[in-house]
Amino acid sequence: PGNPLVLGIETSCDETGVALIDGRNGLLAHALHSQIALHADYGGVVPELASRDHVRKLLPLVHAVLDEAGVDAGQLSAVAYTAGPGLVGALLVGAATARAFAFGLGIPAIGVHHMEGHLLAPALEAEHPEPPYVALLVSGGHSMLIEVRALGDYHLLGETLDDAAGEAFDKTAKLLGLPYPGGPHLAKLAETGRPGRFRFSRPMTDRPGLDFSFSGLKTQVLLAWQKQDQQDGQVRADIARGFEDAVVETLAIKCGRALDATGSKALVVAGGVGANRRLRAQLAELAASCGARVYFPRPAFCTDNGAMIALAGLRRFQAGDLAGVDIGVRPRWPL
Ligand code: KG4
Ligand code: ZN
Repeated sequence: PGNPLVLGIETSCDETGVALIDGRNGLLAHALHSQIALHADYGGVVPELASRDHVRKLLPLVHAVLDEAGVDAGQLSAVAYTAGPGLVGALLVGAATARAFAFGLGIPAIGVHHMEGHLLAPALEAEHPEPPYVALLVSGGHSMLIEVRALGDYHLLGETLDDAAGEAFDKTAKLLGLPYPGGPHLAKLAETGRPGRFRFSRPMTDRPGLDFSFSGLKTQVLLAWQKQDQQDGQVRADIARGFEDAVVETLAIKCGRALDATGSKALVVAGGVGANRRLRAQLAELAASCGARVYFPRPAFCTDNGAMIALAGLRRFQAGDLAGVDIGVRPRWPL
């Protein structure tokens, strides 16, 4: 009881993630299976294929993680799983497995909010801030700024009114002819692009507030791209660079405002877009200029993973908050 051992399971979208964490030593083992190749031909995640693949991969991953840590399932204190938001069929695979495991072992199953997992992920690293801090959560499904006041006390500062930042990366990459999922491909292409050749707007930075809007950017890119010689690789890279700079600068401006508004001196970045190198560099610069510090989980913990769910489950377990026990899954779930 002094040192809880929690298994975490993530199956909300197209990654099967499993991890084992203990209250004293932190992360003991983690494993991930990405379905990217499975969905690539379709240009997006196919929910039914995702569910079936989770069914195939989840139990072997659970066993691999327990083996790697040299832990017997009988030693577990709780099983945490992503209860939402996400694809309902995919969520149900993780929930059913976690709950069956927990029921068989006579321990609690804890339904975790996927976004809380992302918000707490920075604490998987040795150097991390304690609340209160500001978190920028930028993934394929979400773009939000949240003030993390304490465990379970999250205050929404602003969010996207249309596309998420990662979604904007993916859609823009698609129209530039890049493979799915486009975000990392576009970022790579942008490295060879020349800054300033194409300038796109910084949406909603000309007025106060912390909300985002990214859907107009892809239209700007489309219009610019249609006027160019599409065989010209350098032009394509220049456009990618212009787009990336627009998104990154917009996010940085809003993060600066969020730090101002809350008086916080710590900024945490989470979600898949947090893997973007230019975003990391620009936020580090921003933080330095206002006497704040910015924390990034390693890229593997920015994108979907089991470790963040294990950690959120552990924190809930330690707080005696087992409210998740009776929840099944919630495909739509406000934080
Ligand atoms: O958090 P995540 O793995 O999944 C969820 O959406 O929950 O985030 C995936 C998103 C995708 O849109 C992907 O294109 C984007 O993160 N992404 C990136 C980079 N790496 C991943 N976007 C820009 N630059 C990157 N380096
Ligand atoms: Zn996610």
